[in-house]
Amino acid sequence: MTAAVIDGKAFAATLRGHVGELARAFETKAGRKAGLAVVLVGEDPASQVYVRSKGKSTLEAGMASFEHKLPVETSEADLLAVVEQLNADPAVDGILVQLPLPSHMDEQKVIATISPDKDVDGFHVINAGRLAVGLPGFVPCTPLGCIMLLKDRLGSLSGLNAVVIGRSNIVGKPMAQLLLSESCTVTIAHSRTKDLPDVVRRADIVVAAVGRAEMVKGDWIKPGATVIDVGINRVPGAEPGKTKLVGDVDYAGAAQVAGAITPVPGGVGPMTIAVLLRNALVAAHRNAGLELAADAI
Ligand code: GUN
Repeated sequence: MTAAVIDGKAFAATLRGHVGELARAFETKAGRKAGLAVVLVGEDPASQVYVRSKGKSTLEAGMASFEHKLPVETSEADLLAVVEQLNADPAVDGILVQLPLPSHMDEQKVIATISPDKDVDGFHVINAGRLAVGLPGFVPCTPLGCIMLLKDRLGSLSGLNAVVIGRSNIVGKPMAQLLLSESCTVTIAHSRTKDLPDVVRRADIVVAAVGRAEMVKGDWIKPGATVIDVGINRVPGAEPGKTKLVGDVDYAGAAQVAGAITPVPGGVGPMTIAVLLRNALVAAHRNAGLELAADAI
């Protein structure tokens, strides 16, 4: 059997188009554009690529984009002052501080300074808590994108065995919460999990978010399972000096067994920015006191 390929790139393009339509309607109703601010500290190349791509997508969706690029030696106090200024700015609906931050900064302190109503990353403890108790709030973009792909593929997830590999605050933990809220039976596996292949073999849904290239092998996958690969790992390519991107799953092996699988690139990756724009649009409606139907996006 060869798995169906879950086309996250196409799904994300449709979602971005939909967000764009709603952003135009928002502008008409609110008399201003929805606004998303991105703060980047330092010059990490991968972060610079993400931030440029976020700015471009924000403009394409008809939203205002505010970029703050700060030098790596910026003090934590100065960064917190920028965040406070964005909290107070009525043109800014969503604030994203690109992670990781330089080592002299306390990430949790910076995240805690972002207004929970503008925390489109869903990283603030208020939003993590809302997710945990089932209240409306902002949900981290990558796991929400994974849930959208899963529901598009499978319809109801109720009663399915889901294994999340990875326990980060950005992906693993919120992913597990979201799967639980869809009535899955959820296991969170991680680097200390015993007999990981056997744990994964029980899963109808596998979400791999460990950051280790091709760690999940084809013979760990239950036949027909749905595999969501969150990993983006750069490894040496076929030609000397060239690199390529691979996920946390051995794609060639898993695609022989799975029912459906996300490729890398072109699977989960493009969903993150599309969901970020969605979250920013939701924030804009809330901040402007405008209704947005719960099922609008
Ligand atoms: N770094 C890698 N992914 C993310 C993300 O989704 N949000 C932020 N703020 N930083 C990141």
